[in-house]
Amino acid sequence: MTSPIPTLSLVDTDPAELAVDAIVIGVHSVNGDVADAEGGSLLLASGAESIVAAFDGRLTGTLALLGATGAPGEVTKLATLGTITAPVVAAVGLGPEPTGAAPPPETLRRASGAAVRALAGAGTVALSLPLPDDEDAPAALRAVAEGALLGAYRFTGYKTKPQPGRRAPVSAVVVHVPDAAEAAAGAEVTRAAVVTRAVAQTRDWVNTPPNELRPPQFADAVAAAGRAVGLEVEVLDEEALREGGYGGILAVGLGSSAPPRLVRLSYTPPAFDKRVALVGKGITFDTGGFSIKPAQGMWEMKSDMAGAAAVTAAMLAVAALRPSVAVTAYVPMAENMASATAYRPGDVVTMRNGKRVEVLNTDAEGRMILGDAIARACEDGCDYLFETSTLTGGQVVALGKRVAGVMGTLELCDRVKAAGEQVGEPAWPMPLPEDVRKGMDSDVADISQVNAGMDRAGHMLQGGVFLREFVADDVPWAHIDIAGPSYHSGEPTGYWAKGGTGVPVRTLLALIDDIAAAG
Ligand code: BES
Ligand code: MN
Ligand code: ZN
Repeated sequence: MTSPIPTLSLVDTDPAELAVDAIVIGVHSVNGDVADAEGGSLLLASGAESIVAAFDGRLTGTLALLGATGAPGEVTKLATLGTITAPVVAAVGLGPEPTGAAPPPETLRRASGAAVRALAGAGTVALSLPLPDDEDAPAALRAVAEGALLGAYRFTGYKTKPQPGRRAPVSAVVVHVPDAAEAAAGAEVTRAAVVTRAVAQTRDWVNTPPNELRPPQFADAVAAAGRAVGLEVEVLDEEALREGGYGGILAVGLGSSAPPRLVRLSYTPPAFDKRVALVGKGITFDTGGFSIKPAQGMWEMKSDMAGAAAVTAAMLAVAALRPSVAVTAYVPMAENMASATAYRPGDVVTMRNGKRVEVLNTDAEGRMILGDAIARACEDGCDYLFETSTLTGGQVVALGKRVAGVMGTLELCDRVKAAGEQVGEPAWPMPLPEDVRKGMDSDVADISQVNAGMDRAGHMLQGGVFLREFVADDVPWAHIDIAGPSYHSGEPTGYWAKGGTGVPVRTLLALIDDIAAAG
């Protein structure tokens, strides 16, 4: 079951005459001053011209009286009472008037998302936001379309009764463009639908309660979704994992009555130059094991499979977008529990690549399953490897809830940063210092899973340093730690609802596009 996303289409007719339930226009703030009743300090954005004209000079003043300031994401709704065809106008804040021709794409994406979320209850919503008419036009259109579809997301949930007063998400989105018949614009609509579908799928999996998505079920769901879109699918069950020597995945899976899995999904185009491997952490629930987590907030560890969900959903989008790059996803899945059969601190585990790891903290389980999956990806052969995981609380301490940490080959880290910036999923490169590796020397095995003295210094970096041990020497790789950005626990904002965010699906797809174009 996946949550519905709205249909998406383009129009180029007069926004004032559109037969929709609501029309969204943009409003800028001017100089940070407070708007007055005449609308001083408010500036309606381009795209709103015909609506401004229909209101005969009264629109900005009325918006100011209603409290509009033009602050980013602010939504002010107004009944039009026959002035234009749509019964409701919603003015969405776009911040100060940009110095360039149009606001940056991420401003548009968030504004579009906030507006469509605020208009829940309306069936069809049109957006007439400022779009540049130069080479930046496709990126702006993409942002408006993606924001609208992402903003309409709502997890279906598990309530047994309908919620009184809860309005249904918008079901159809219409974006106003200069020329609706233009092929480039049509291509953006098609892409936005595929990409936001993948993001919604990721959010659904992340939001699913952990008792409903234990490793065998998750593997079945991923395999079914992959087969349905024509991907090649291979599922390694606990037996196959034992035969294959996947010691890390098996060790973490030992504590649970639901056995671990490794799912492999492949997309092979008729012709390609490069092979990309994607690896995602699929811990369906992380109690910490015997190094048990505090009860407070433990429930959020249902999202510890966000990396797995993101790489799988990215594969589903790849199957639809058909880039000229071969892509294989490796998705290790386990449930990290404490039980009579669980792995323990002090255990030594032989990994898929033969390296022996001393377990010091059973809560550092992600790197155990990822080490095996990364080793397998490198055995199969790849030109680039991207791995993403909710790996460390240290990422949240260092970079916060929005910015992912990236570690790996320098050039590839920079590419991840650039892709993230382009799609509105910020990511920042972090180092892999030699002293951190030194601190992980084990007395009894090849490496400790964390600092041998359990020192939490450079906590996020320890994760990256550990994973490097499983990457083949010649493979450019990047580890994207999404502990913070994969899950939004605050109030809804922009195109983010509470719960899974779908980060970094759009970054991965941008990287694949980039590799298809530039190698
Ligand atoms: N899944 C957690 C990391 C995490 C923390 C994700 C907060 C999202 C939000 C991971 O498995 C973990 O427990 N990491 C430990 C590592 C430590 C034991 C080396 C951590 O962050 O404390
Ligand atoms: Mn953990
Ligand atoms: Zn974890």
